[in-house]
Amino acid sequence: MTQTFSTPKAMVEELRPEVPIHCLRPHVIRETARRFVQAFPGNAMYAVKCNNDRRVLRALYEGGVRHFDTASIAEIEQIHDQFLNPNCYYMHPVKSRTAIRESYHRYGMRTFSLDHHDELRKLREELGDLSQTTLVVRLEAVRAQAVCDLGGKFGAPNDLAADLLREVVRLGAKPGLTFHVGSQCLSPKAYLNMMRRAADVWQQSGVDLAVLDIGGGFPVAYVGTFPPDLSEYMAAIAEGVQEIALPPTTRLMAEPGRAMVAKGYSIVVRVMLRRDNQLYLNDGSYGSLMDMKLDGIDLPIRILRPGGEATGDLISYDLFGPTCDSVDHLPGPYWLPDDIIEGDWLEIGQAGAYTNVLHTGFNGFGDFASVFTEDEGFEPTLEMLPKTLRGKLVHNDADR
Ligand SMILES: Cc1ncc(COP(=O)(O)O)c(C=O)c1O
Repeated sequence: MTQTFSTPKAMVEELRPEVPIHCLRPHVIRETARRFVQAFPGNAMYAVKCNNDRRVLRALYEGGVRHFDTASIAEIEQIHDQFLNPNCYYMHPVKSRTAIRESYHRYGMRTFSLDHHDELRKLREELGDLSQTTLVVRLEAVRAQAVCDLGGKFGAPNDLAADLLREVVRLGAKPGLTFHVGSQCLSPKAYLNMMRRAADVWQQSGVDLAVLDIGGGFPVAYVGTFPPDLSEYMAAIAEGVQEIALPPTTRLMAEPGRAMVAKGYSIVVRVMLRRDNQLYLNDGSYGSLMDMKLDGIDLPIRILRPGGEATGDLISYDLFGPTCDSVDHLPGPYWLPDDIIEGDWLEIGQAGAYTNVLHTGFNGFGDFASVFTEDEGFEPTLEMLPKTLRGKLVHNDADR
């Protein structure tokens, strides 16, 4: 059974853990999901890839999430195992033939994404009759103030997308359009711009659109990044719906991942060695901290010292994970008090997204445990940066 503590610090005081500890806050995930589901004027599908822990999925469900963006048979199977008659959508544009058949016949999958004529051919060959399906064409996204660009791998240019939409209809399926503006997208206007492009493609194709899915990408606060409030994203989306005159018969959908779950976790790690400004931790990029390798994903960090507080001046550190591989390095600057010593515990906040799902056991360092904590989460503040850097922050959307 998962133990519950009031805070990560209380957990450290009691357990003094040697392995990384994932502190889960289902109540925070539940409320975050509730806020998103209520604010979004359509169906919010949770992107299961972001964090597929059963306790997280349960909290999302309790928060009102009823739709799941699944990208593999294993994810579809997991959602079916946990929920009765769930609404899953196969939003991976490249699927194996076996996965197409199995998802359709075994799990009742009826919505698939694609961005190429050959994928459409695969769907037709494997499923035969497409009349029960909605086939959602993924549109190529332009890079727009997102930390993690997803445009290079998937997405059809406008002409191809319009052509695919017409072909989808010719084959008897319902047509949809989708895009992904990139993960941790700092610009609400990116959604409006992509909705305008989707509308161009839709007009060009001349079809009646059954689905417009505006993807994921909704951001959270990290050190030095304080994105616009969710309400500004929702306002941009509402403006898009109005401007492109989206018919009520077109179902609006979104695929949030990061914004739903980041705040619901902290990861508590231990300092195994300090060498000058380099901290060697018991977790790293082969463990749960891979996402921190991306510029702009600076998770907040603080010292948890049983019976004491850290008081030193902020200095810049580099972090290293526990494996022997030099790739296991999170280059700084991570601004932390100068008095960190071997044996200290560090809490890494905003850690619910793309952490446990990327965890490996490489080099024998895969162990971690998890607990529940009752606090409200650990978000970054301005004080986590030295004064000289505070004026140079990404506060909001330069593009508005
Ligand atoms: C197709 C698709 N949808 C949704 C997401 C979730 O994105 P985010 O976590 O940025 O909201 C991703 C992330 O990679 C994705 O590839």
